[in-house]
Amino acid sequence: MSKTTDELFKNVIAHAKEYGFVFPSSEIYDGLSAVYDYGQFGAELKNNIKTYWWKSMVQMNQNIVGIDSAIFMHPKIWEASGHVGGFNDPMIDNKDSKKRYRADQLLEDKIARYDTDGKTDKAELLQKDLDEALKADDLTRLRDLIIEHEIACPVSGTRNWTDVRQFNLMFSTQMGAVADDADVIYLRPETAQGIFVNFLNVQKSGRMKIPFGIAQIGKAFRNEVIARQFIIRMREFEQMEMQFFVRPGTEMEWYKHWKEARLKWHLALGTDQAKYRYHDHTKLAHYANAAVDIEYQFPFGFKEVEGIHSRTDFDLSQHQKFSGKKMQYFDPEINQNYVPYVIETSIGLDRMFLLTLINAYEEEDLSTAEKQDSRTVLRLHPCLAPVKAAIFPLTKKDGLPEKAREIMESLQLDFILQYEEKDAIGKRYRRQDAIGTPFCITVDHQTLEDNTVTLRHRDTMAQERVPADQLDKIIGDLVSWKNLLKA
Ligand code: GAP
Repeated sequence: MSKTTDELFKNVIAHAKEYGFVFPSSEIYDGLSAVYDYGQFGAELKNNIKTYWWKSMVQMNQNIVGIDSAIFMHPKIWEASGHVGGFNDPMIDNKDSKKRYRADQLLEDKIARYDTDGKTDKAELLQKDLDEALKADDLTRLRDLIIEHEIACPVSGTRNWTDVRQFNLMFSTQMGAVADDADVIYLRPETAQGIFVNFLNVQKSGRMKIPFGIAQIGKAFRNEVIARQFIIRMREFEQMEMQFFVRPGTEMEWYKHWKEARLKWHLALGTDQAKYRYHDHTKLAHYANAAVDIEYQFPFGFKEVEGIHSRTDFDLSQHQKFSGKKMQYFDPEINQNYVPYVIETSIGLDRMFLLTLINAYEEEDLSTAEKQDSRTVLRLHPCLAPVKAAIFPLTKKDGLPEKAREIMESLQLDFILQYEEKDAIGKRYRRQDAIGTPFCITVDHQTLEDNTVTLRHRDTMAQERVPADQLDKIIGDLVSWKNLLKA
């Protein structure tokens, strides 16, 4: 990471805290690793991202419905899904520093270092060895590779490693008063299984015909051992997932459809297309016959934001097997019963939040020959902005606060607004720029005479005089979801 991008990322994290977007969890107790809280503007931004997703998935598609399943589910679900047996990371400890690492990540980092040093042959060979070891689940081989390639602990600098062990990522707790094995219950590591186990409930109660989708937004929990890069890898996070049930044999055409549709959703926000790329999986998970990540270029490199997976009939078949209940659909068009195939779209809400924040953040130099000046502005899409407009009386007297509040009351049913009367107008503009408010409305003495106000635009900083009774329409047009959702 170059110094400037490193600094930029640090500045974004500091900005997120200073302006009420993201706080470290339990901060007064020195924090809780890889857990974060969303502040007053963060919660609004997050809700707006959710609304954009929900509207584009559920509202805009007549054959997709949304559900809200519980976080706690029957423990057998996680056996059927493969999470109890296989949702593991290979971990290794350094005996001197007592630090724990993901064995595969130590090796990935080494491959990256070989690449940077121009040792591409070594990089390729190690990648091949790593792939083979992971595929064969060969933990001894992983450790041997760490020793052979002389990988040292970044903290102690020694190569005094333990064996590699599998570490399950699911959090567990107990349900009920008696703490024995039968009561062990997991905090869901993905929202998807809540959709699969409700597949027939939704299909029957909604008389849904294949192809159709079920969408859900909710919390997921993973005991990530290596917490990295702010809200990129968290232990408690939110997913927005949609499972699209299709006739077997048609899955590739739907996979292509959702791969394109999901990238379009991202690009509609106006993000530079060059910042996005697809990453097709070559090593497929046991349940998938095709998979791709949508990656975004964060300051620390391209990282997955969303995955599109063709999951075959794996999940429904597994639930059929483990529950003993039929998970079949009768297709009247071909007069056949079958277990549907599934295309999944799964986006991390927190990663999308970080992407949005980083993409919007700008430290703008406004210096002129006469004076040095700058501002930090969040150029958020107006639909996503936490506050849509701020209302300022020019002064605290002469009836201006009363008039400003009257205008605010006429708008607050439709928009989230802020009222501010403290400090000079310039300072108030800067505070709103920093949280991405698209409009500032100033009420002055002329307002009392002709009911016009000054409307200041965040991005251009241009000001215009407009009738107060047109504010509703002006703001409404700019923040309308139609701007994002129309084809
Ligand atoms: N149901 C499929 C599934 O869960 P995944 O690739 O493990 O697939 C989907 O997760 C998305 O969830 C990722 O693309 C990422 O955006 C987000 N995600 C996964 N683990 C995360 C974590 N520890 N912290 C934040 N977001 C995470």
